[in-house]
Amino acid sequence: MFDKYVRFIKNISINAYGKAGVILTTSSFLVFLVFELARMTGILTNAYIGLITYLLFPLMFVIGLILIPIGWYKRLKSTGKTTRQLLQQQFDDNELKESFFGSKLSLKIGLLTLVNILFLLFASTQMLSFMDEPYFCGTACHSVMNPEWVTYQQSPHARVKCVECHVGEGTDALIASKLNGMWQMISITFNLYERPIPTPVHQLRPARETCEKCHWPDKFYGDRLRKIVRYQHDEKNTPVYSTLLLKIDSGKKGEKAGIHWHVAAENEVRYVSVNDKREEMIWVEVRQADQTYKRYFNNTLLEAEKIETSDPRILDCMDCHNRATHIYQDPEKAIDERIQAGFISAGLPFIKREGLRAISINYNDQNTGLIGIATHINNFYRRNSPLISTSQMPEIDRAIYELQQIYQRNIHPHMNISWGSYASFIGHDHNSGCFRCHNNHMISNDGEYITYDCTTCHSILAMEEMQPLKYLEPVEEKTRGAEMHRYLQEEFKKYYRK
Ligand code: HEC
Ligand code: HEC
Ligand code: HEC
Ligand code: HEC
Ligand code: HEC
Repeated sequence: MFDKYVRFIKNISINAYGKAGVILTTSSFLVFLVFELARMTGILTNAYIGLITYLLFPLMFVIGLILIPIGWYKRLKSTGKTTRQLLQQQFDDNELKESFFGSKLSLKIGLLTLVNILFLLFASTQMLSFMDEPYFCGTACHSVMNPEWVTYQQSPHARVKCVECHVGEGTDALIASKLNGMWQMISITFNLYERPIPTPVHQLRPARETCEKCHWPDKFYGDRLRKIVRYQHDEKNTPVYSTLLLKIDSGKKGEKAGIHWHVAAENEVRYVSVNDKREEMIWVEVRQADQTYKRYFNNTLLEAEKIETSDPRILDCMDCHNRATHIYQDPEKAIDERIQAGFISAGLPFIKREGLRAISINYNDQNTGLIGIATHINNFYRRNSPLISTSQMPEIDRAIYELQQIYQRNIHPHMNISWGSYASFIGHDHNSGCFRCHNNHMISNDGEYITYDCTTCHSILAMEEMQPLKYLEPVEEKTRGAEMHRYLQEEFKKYYRK
């Protein structure tokens, strides 16, 4: 049985082309099996090897298969024989009947073709599911995606696959993303891509097909407490406290409510921005109860900037949560977080100020950066307080390590990513984020603007206070603002835990 097939394969590989074809097909098939086994058992994990396994080997397999009929065609041409004659020369009569169809030979060819198709189907489904793995997306083009990969792994979505946000469901989405992926491979091969990768990502699917598969707008209710500690640049790194109560409600039908009001099913906000960058609005519209739209114009733009280069965009999750996963930090906030967590010792004099200086310097590449940070901090303490530089050596080393971690996550010189390259739209740092629309220069025809009152989006329970608990001190009834004070006191008792 088995040697029959071997003989068959010998006969079918009629000349050099055919032989090359058979060797290519068989060897790529066998190597594929070995690699697939190694991947399944976890011996090989590298993304490049995955690409080779699922792309290169099946490709060689197909090329080999194509070479075999080419060999036959060449032989027919060179000898001038008919197909029938050639078949008779290569195979004995036993395998060939009167007609080719229905013969043992055609059965064999049919069977082998089926095996080939099954193999290729298997390889391509493996390829598709492999290319959906974050590990592949994050590391296949190594240095290009490294910033996204690093930030992704430290995000709340570290267990959500890239494709769940970037591709969404349905065959259309799949095909579009594969075409896009092919373009990406080309642009990486020929070094055509931009550094940093530009945002916004216009081809992201609407949030309804991605984010809302896991988070649905009706689910947002109530308030979310944010306790923010900032450290000053003095010797003691003195902390100041802010406490916000973010109103994240999506609201009841028809009512104005909290922050997720924008994405409740019955509401719609849409806008056009300068160059479709989503940073500077040209106009913003909000749908009214009677289904008409009320429009607010930006009255600070020059005529040239008012040219609309895109269709209106309906505001969705990504207009605020543009950094849901690839979260780059603000350098100051990143240090504050680590001091607060106790990773960087607040007992090190001027550590906030010097840490910030160390990570703000422009280094040529990551390695120089890591060394530069260590040098800066070590030198600072050696020069200014030799005593501390010896007595607090472990704290200094730890601080250096933490600063290096911050640096590694946020700064990627090879992609030109530095502090602020990818701004977040949550909040209103640098008058961006919410203040792109909530401000006093987006004005409607009847002179109204979109509210930007400080209590629209959050109650401010404390704002950069040295002693946030002062609200717990008793209030004198007759003083002005006593009522507000009592309210804050209640809120504080409810929420503030030291
Ligand atoms: C929870 C959803 C989500 C996941 C998971 C996710 N991304 Fe993103 N990604 C986004 C959003 C949102 C943006 C920003 C879009 C914008 O600003 O227009 C983005 C932007 C990007 C960009 C453009 C550069 C940038 O930072 O804006 C790249 C490249 C990217 N993602 C790659 C990846 C890779 C690779 C993975 C998996 C390792 C991944 N993403 C996982 C939501 C996600
Ligand atoms: C496959 C499911 C899934 C998808 C898709 C998804 N998320 Fe999430 N998201 C989660 C889970 C799970 C958490 C909670 C993680 C935790 O509690 O640590 C989360 C957390 C969050 C948080 C809270 C983070 C925090 O600091 O508490 C935000 C904001 C968020 N997601 C926004 C988005 C946005 C915007 C998108 C679309 C771009 C999206 N998510 C897509 C599953 C998903
Ligand atoms: C108008 C801006 C805006 C839009 C649009 C928006 N969000 Fe949010 N979202 C916020 C803000 C602000 C917070 C609270 C701030 C924080 O977590 O730092 C928040 C908080 C969240 C949280 C954490 C909630 C919690 O209980 O702590 C999740 C999850 C979330 N958003 C998901 C989404 C999803 C999914 C969408 C789209 C359906 C969406 N958001 C649309 C601004 C927005
Ligand atoms: C693209 C423009 C746009 C952006 C960006 C935007 N908003 Fe809004 N927001 C609106 C519009 C328009 C309204 C409805 C105003 C009206 O009808 O008076 C609104 C309403 C609100 C409301 C309800 C106000 C009320 O009267 O009850 C809250 C709360 C809110 N936004 C918070 C936020 C927060 C927080 C952010 C940033 C994370 C943000 N918005 C970003 C356009 C925007
Ligand atoms: C349109 C909604 C909106 C308005 C109006 C608004 N804020 Fe905010 N603000 C936010 C959101 C959302 C955050 C949370 C950002 C985050 O989660 O990091 C925030 C954060 C803050 C913070 C903490 C910043 C930090 O991380 O250190 C302060 C302080 C603050 N707001 C003060 C104000 C003041 C003062 C006003 C009035 C001038 C104001 N806000 C108006 C939405 C708003």
